[in-house]
Amino acid sequence: MPDKQIIVTGASKGIGAAIAQDLSKRGFHPVCLSRSGGAPAGTGHRCDVTDEAAVRSLFARIADDGPVVGLINNAGLHEGSPSDTLETASYLKVMTLNATAVMIASREVFPHLRKSKGRIVNIGSFFDKLGVPENLSYCVSKAAVAAMTRCLAAEWAPHGIAVMNVAPGYVETDLNRDFLAQENVKRWLAKRVPMQRPGDAGEIAKLVGSLFAEDVAYLTGETIYIDGGQGMNL
Ligand SMILES: NC(=O)c1ccc[n+]([C@@H]2O[C@H](COP(=O)([O-])OP(=O)(O)OC[C@H]3O[C@@H](n4cnc5c(N)ncnc54)[C@H](OP(=O)(O)O)[C@@H]3O)[C@@H](O)[C@H]2O)c1
Repeated sequence: MPDKQIIVTGASKGIGAAIAQDLSKRGFHPVCLSRSGGAPAGTGHRCDVTDEAAVRSLFARIADDGPVVGLINNAGLHEGSPSDTLETASYLKVMTLNATAVMIASREVFPHLRKSKGRIVNIGSFFDKLGVPENLSYCVSKAAVAAMTRCLAAEWAPHGIAVMNVAPGYVETDLNRDFLAQENVKRWLAKRVPMQRPGDAGEIAKLVGSLFAEDVAYLTGETIYIDGGQGMNL
């Protein structure tokens, strides 16, 4: 029976895969959820996290396998569009996965984390505090994640559950590989980011893994920006 299970959504690749690998090295058992079901470490399950009934029944099965001590809401997508032609369907698609699915997974994991006094870490974005042209849906969805983090942290602290939001800057993954490969974008990032480079998925994973491993008891509700200094740079 695996103990110390941590559910990681969107763990088949990118930042989620790096998080699963980091957690595994630290002695946790990552339970990796995605539509393809790939598991870079731990156990893999096919699950579309926008499917409420599927999430509910899978979480119950995972809890039958052993204690659940954490949830990482990482699955997300990006769609950009000029706001004057933004399709409602595109807006709702981004909001449904990036924000509504975070609420659903958090709600469904609550009874299990209440037993273990576990924690939730959401993966937001530094776009949550920026006005980014042609990125309305994504920015709104990530601002919602930061707000949810605060609300859940306040409501569930008496139950011993901590909730945090880790908000990365640019990290090269399938989500943005084509964008980051453009020469003008590379030059712009080198000037715009004080650390002069995009982040690496392993760097985000290290922060997330340390939140579980260090178990800093008085820390909850906060957004930690990990963006090479881009978001605070004038
Ligand atoms: N990359 C960046 O620069 C960056 C910056 C800030 C924040 N973030 C955030 O970091 C998170 C991970 O991004 P990433 O760059 O690693 O993206 P990615 O490489 O595109 O990976 C996305 C992951 O989510 C899964 N997924 C997508 N739709 C799903 C669904 N409906 N149900 C379950 N799983 C689903 C994908 O697997 P399947 O296709 O198999 O389902 C994949 O494992 C996202 O929340 C993103 O907004 C990324």
